[in-house]
Amino acid sequence: MKKNSTAQNIEEIVNKALTELKSTKTLADLDKWRIQYLGRKGLVVQLKRSISDLPSAERPQFGQAVNSASTELETKLIDQQRKISSNDKNEPTESIDVTLPGVPTNNGSLHPITQTIRDICEAFTSMGFEIIEGPEVELDYYNFQMLNIPKHHPARDGFNTLWIDQEDSNGEKPMLLRTHTSPMQIRTMEKQDPPVRLVVPGKVYRYEATDASHEWHFSQIEGLAVDKGITFANLKGTLYEFARKLFGEDVRVRFRCDYFPFVEPGAEMSIDWNSRTNETGEENWIEILGAGMVHPKVLHAVGYDTDKYTGFAFGIGVERIAMLKHGIDDIRLFYNNDIRFLGQF
Ligand code: PHE
Repeated sequence: MKKNSTAQNIEEIVNKALTELKSTKTLADLDKWRIQYLGRKGLVVQLKRSISDLPSAERPQFGQAVNSASTELETKLIDQQRKISSNDKNEPTESIDVTLPGVPTNNGSLHPITQTIRDICEAFTSMGFEIIEGPEVELDYYNFQMLNIPKHHPARDGFNTLWIDQEDSNGEKPMLLRTHTSPMQIRTMEKQDPPVRLVVPGKVYRYEATDASHEWHFSQIEGLAVDKGITFANLKGTLYEFARKLFGEDVRVRFRCDYFPFVEPGAEMSIDWNSRTNETGEENWIEILGAGMVHPKVLHAVGYDTDKYTGFAFGIGVERIAMLKHGIDDIRLFYNNDIRFLGQF
């Protein structure tokens, strides 16, 4: 059947349009093409308008032909647009360059005190100690009385205590912010029979003026070992090993007498900070912990048989150790929350 001449006309227009479409290279070319054929004054619109000029018998066929031509041009336009977008790097497109480097994110890190606590605990867990934690708001009973520091004992003067402002029926304040981690010795021994081997990391509080080496809150790690036949040699061996693990094989360690009401005999341990480098030959002794054999009165108070059991205890100052390790000269830097300081760890 011979095609009606106007419909043939449409076919020619479509062919010409498609040839031109294929030769478009940029999105700008493509837009020109779209305006020419599919724009508001474009060829397709003109063809649609010309329907009314036709004899009514020819209108349906012509109309159909224009509609399918218009659909075809629109589909091919979209195809070509995709093709150009994926090729044409000079045109702004929606495509993403997956080879560009990503936007870097700021990684956080553990606080230097948290890192030091973990290092110290790791040294003790490798020797068979267990880690436990306890309350920062503590009872006078555990913080002092059960540790052989009765009411009005002069040793209380050494612990400048922050009391909780609440009185019992005797008009006394039974609660405080713990001044050391030692109350956890008692809380544990009350519940558990020997053998006991534990370390207790945590915050402690003292009502003191702050300066480069004093904070009113700081961290300690308590240690306690109670069993049959534990001696001062075990205390020394354990703490030597701790010092070597933390500061290196060559570190020199010194014990001297010290007094704490809950140990007998009591000692302080210092390390020779210069012994790690061996450069100057000069000594630089720095105290890092208090220690001693658990006082029989303390063992007795928790119901342990003092003929059978002995033990040692120690309390390590965490900030001291972190300051030494990192060469920090002011303890207050740890708690200023200055990102320029914290970002270095
Ligand atoms: N609790 C003591 C202090 O804070 C340290 C210590 C712990 C000493 C255990 C001896 C034994 O100073």
